[in-house]
Amino acid sequence: MASAQFSRRLPLFFFFEVAAVAVLAALLPLGGHARACPPCGSTAVPYPLSTADGCGDPAYKVRCAAGASTLFFDALNGTSYPITSISPAAQRLVVAPAPLVSNDSCVSVGAPAGRGVQLDPTLPFNVSSSNTIMLLNCTAALLRSPLNCSSTSLCHAYADAARSPCAPLPLCCTFVAGGSSTSHRIRASPELCSAYASFVDLDPAQPPATWGGRLGLELQWAAPREPLCQTQADCEDGANATCAGDPAAAGAVRRCLCVPGLAWDPVAGACQQSTLSMNHLAIY
Ligand SMILES: *[C@@H]1O[C@H](CO)[C@@H](O)[C@H](O)[C@H]1NC(C)=O
Ligand SMILES: *[C@@H]1O[C@H](CO)[C@@H](O)[C@H](O)[C@H]1NC(C)=O
Ligand SMILES: *[C@@H]1O[C@H](CO)[C@@H](O)[C@H](O)[C@H]1NC(C)=O
Ligand SMILES: *[C@@H]1O[C@H](CO)[C@@H](O)[C@H](O)[C@H]1NC(C)=O
Ligand SMILES: *[C@@H]1O[C@H](CO)[C@@H](O)[C@H](O)[C@H]1NC(C)=O
Ligand SMILES: *[C@@H]1O[C@H](CO)[C@@H](O)[C@H](O)[C@H]1NC(C)=O
Repeated sequence: MASAQFSRRLPLFFFFEVAAVAVLAALLPLGGHARACPPCGSTAVPYPLSTADGCGDPAYKVRCAAGASTLFFDALNGTSYPITSISPAAQRLVVAPAPLVSNDSCVSVGAPAGRGVQLDPTLPFNVSSSNTIMLLNCTAALLRSPLNCSSTSLCHAYADAARSPCAPLPLCCTFVAGGSSTSHRIRASPELCSAYASFVDLDPAQPPATWGGRLGLELQWAAPREPLCQTQADCEDGANATCAGDPAAAGAVRRCLCVPGLAWDPVAGACQQSTLSMNHLAIY
């Protein structure tokens, strides 16, 4: 009796199994990558950035504004910045820095906590050294800082050329980010300066009127490690990775470690043979 029931149900089980395999195959990118997130509207979300549980690497969270096709980077103190570009191979993204509150005041939009940018130092993102930061409309207290606050500082040229409400500036200062003190935080304390501007790869030899095109704040992310796992079933790479204790953490956590002969590629998010053989596969 039981066996007759089983055989009657078999085709149905079989059907579901085939359907599940087909769905899985559609979700997994070629080569068995750790799963990259689906696009945010028309904006691609490259690995390891993660817009939801179950895709990307959870340490690399960004937020997809549904319907708007816009990715946001959420920083500390309730501040959020639209992401304007992403370079997965360089492990960098650019966010739009806080704008001025209005066209006729030299005050950056800021959380009640204060202006500037504050990243969570426990996350794998930092402020890259490609950023030139200008602190605008500052008080004399900032003269004691090691920043360039001279009358020839680039911030004067920018404010004048942009016909910004900040010009003419009593005092402003310029510095290039990327030192340890600015790697997670761009300070613009309301008591010191009322606004800031940030530029990516600013070339001071170009006319200041063109600098506006470089407005942005570039963040860099640390290469992601192999995905965490509890059991072998968590490893999307299937046969290419083994769920095992991470030697770098003395086995305290388990990761999908690549099998001998393959190596973890943090940009692709997968165990791969080598860049050469991947190019070879792509060509033929
Ligand atoms: C395993 O790695 C090889 C070489 O990179 C690749 O061709 C293959 O698709 C991978 N298989 C899985 C299941 O990820
Ligand atoms: C601010 O400037 C922009 C661009 O010049 C303009 O479109 C907008 O109307 C201005 N807003 C106000 C409130 O003046
Ligand atoms: C410059 O900052 C001061 C506060 O330090 C503020 O009162 C003033 O309105 C700012 N200037 C402009 C043009 O917004
Ligand atoms: C911003 O948030 C952090 C962590 O939540 C907190 O420690 C810090 O005091 C806040 N900064 C300000 C200026 O309130
Ligand atoms: C400040 O920056 C200007 C413009 O780049 C430069 O000419 C000047 O030498 C700098 N001054 C100091 C003290 O670094
Ligand atoms: C920022 O992060 C990158 C990648 O982890 C690292 O190479 C770089 O040294 C960091 N920069 C600073 C200033 O900490």
